[in-house]
Amino acid sequence: MKMMIDVISEEMMKAFEGAGYDGSLGRVTVSNRPDLCEYQCNGAMAGAKLYKKAPLVIAGDVAKALEGSKIFSQVEAVAPGFLNLKLSEVFLAGFVNGMMAEDKFGVEDPEGKDKKTIIIDYGGPNVAKPLHVGHLRPAIIGESIKRICRYAGHEVIGDVHLGDWGLPMGQIITELAERKPDLVYFDDSFDGEYPEEPPFTISELEEIYPFASGKCKQDEEYKAKALKATAELQKGRRGYRALWKHILNVSVGDLKKNYEKLDVHFDLWKGESDCDPYIPDMVEKMKKDGYAYISDGALVVDVKEDTDKKEMPPCMILKSDGAANYETTDLATIVMREQDYKPDSIVYVVDKRQQLHFEQVFRCARKTGIVRDECSLEFVGFGTMNGPDGKPFKTRDGGVLRLEYLLKDIRDKMEADIRENNADKDKQLSDEETADIAGKAGLAALKYGDLSNQASKDYIFDIARFTSFEGDTGPYILYTMARIKSVLNKCRERGIDVDGLKSVNVPAGKTEKELLMNMAGFNQMIKDASDGRAPHKVCAFIYDLANKFNTFYHDNNILNAEENVRNGFIAELKACLALFEVSIGLLGFEAPERM
Ligand code: ARG
Repeated sequence: MKMMIDVISEEMMKAFEGAGYDGSLGRVTVSNRPDLCEYQCNGAMAGAKLYKKAPLVIAGDVAKALEGSKIFSQVEAVAPGFLNLKLSEVFLAGFVNGMMAEDKFGVEDPEGKDKKTIIIDYGGPNVAKPLHVGHLRPAIIGESIKRICRYAGHEVIGDVHLGDWGLPMGQIITELAERKPDLVYFDDSFDGEYPEEPPFTISELEEIYPFASGKCKQDEEYKAKALKATAELQKGRRGYRALWKHILNVSVGDLKKNYEKLDVHFDLWKGESDCDPYIPDMVEKMKKDGYAYISDGALVVDVKEDTDKKEMPPCMILKSDGAANYETTDLATIVMREQDYKPDSIVYVVDKRQQLHFEQVFRCARKTGIVRDECSLEFVGFGTMNGPDGKPFKTRDGGVLRLEYLLKDIRDKMEADIRENNADKDKQLSDEETADIAGKAGLAALKYGDLSNQASKDYIFDIARFTSFEGDTGPYILYTMARIKSVLNKCRERGIDVDGLKSVNVPAGKTEKELLMNMAGFNQMIKDASDGRAPHKVCAFIYDLANKFNTFYHDNNILNAEENVRNGFIAELKACLALFEVSIGLLGFEAPERM
């Protein structure tokens, strides 16, 4: 289906042409004076110069051409030459009925070159480290962008891009060698099969890594060993590769469990290591084409541009010991993705503090031609999740909070609130149902709290606010949905054929019209959120929808309305609920039946 704004603009363009003016003047925008009109067109002002006529005359001509329009209920030419527009209620109802009759509520699948293949690189956990709050944002934002772009009709591939190939691996190997030097992995003369059982558990691994990384900061000799181990691992030393596989397996099993709890799912579980086979050819090509040169022992490519206002250091392709670094793996991963998918876009959902790294990588990839011109490289840098003190979120003792504990805190808070809320009501919730609701509402509180902010902004993680049933929160949305479900159930109890009712009313009052207008913006919102990689637009849409719905609900007695009107109301409730359902799915959470 066409978008409302386009339908309206086309009608307006035709009117300009009909009145003898250029059609392109007829572009319509949403009104910035909602007290006066719903939409406006300022084309007559622009036309004044072109036709040497007073704008009000032009506006008057156009208004005349629009007499009898099926799309507008009101067209006013006002001084100095604006066209103030109101949408026809009949047309609006027809538009909403049309969208509700479609599978995707008016969202059209792009065709041909408009259909894009998009790789979303998100999550980015480092193996051997537990998921902590720092991993929350990339997971939540990336998952939502993936779902939105997919719903918009694109081919979308989510890749977790594990950090599994750098110094941390060398550090763990080094520490293991200190603690258990007799392990067969360190015996160079061993040429048999390595054991299948890993020589550590996930808890051991999670203790070893921070220990080793701390030691590297204090002990130069130890650090040198870790660097050497990293380089040897990358060069293919057998025992190290076998150990590394154990690290990977143990850790990925644990990561999968944790992402599952967040309802975050990756299509690809690739890591930095997967690009390793692509590194030698890539490096060779960069050298041969004259881009890569040795500087201070390392191999680098200049990425400075004349217009740079800030320092732009060269991009390091290989370290002086020949090991790959973070730039190397990101570049070779581009080579790999180009080969495997020929994507139209690669979207990186990563902490905005890594902006410089990505700028270097993107420039280097473009300059050396490892990425096609047609493929856009996009950095969606997210801000920091801060605690109430405005500093990066920490546990009370100053440590990093594990994701699973954070989830549990929110869930518990939700459960307490739900019990309190229902204490004096006669709706009996079993413990099981309460727990289920708390789980869903907790995830909604967390994800909505994060996604309702523009990703690049820092925000304050405030459990009390996020879990509130009022205001711009996940639980408010779920509560509104539960309210709709409860009304619909009451209708069913009265024997009304709820499922059969499909036509919304021609809106009679202001709040009903506003509700329908809000719904009618759905396909536009999806396009904007998808093109802009902007889940916050989905949040803004449903927050608005919830507010409009609640005002409408307050103003109208649904169950006691005259039968025809009531049936239209019911269709409106169903339409609202359906739009809420898809939208929260795109944000990555679900609604309970009641709350
Ligand atoms: N593992 C990285 C980190 O913890 C994030 C990875 C982001 N993605 C990428 N392609 N570099 O900082």
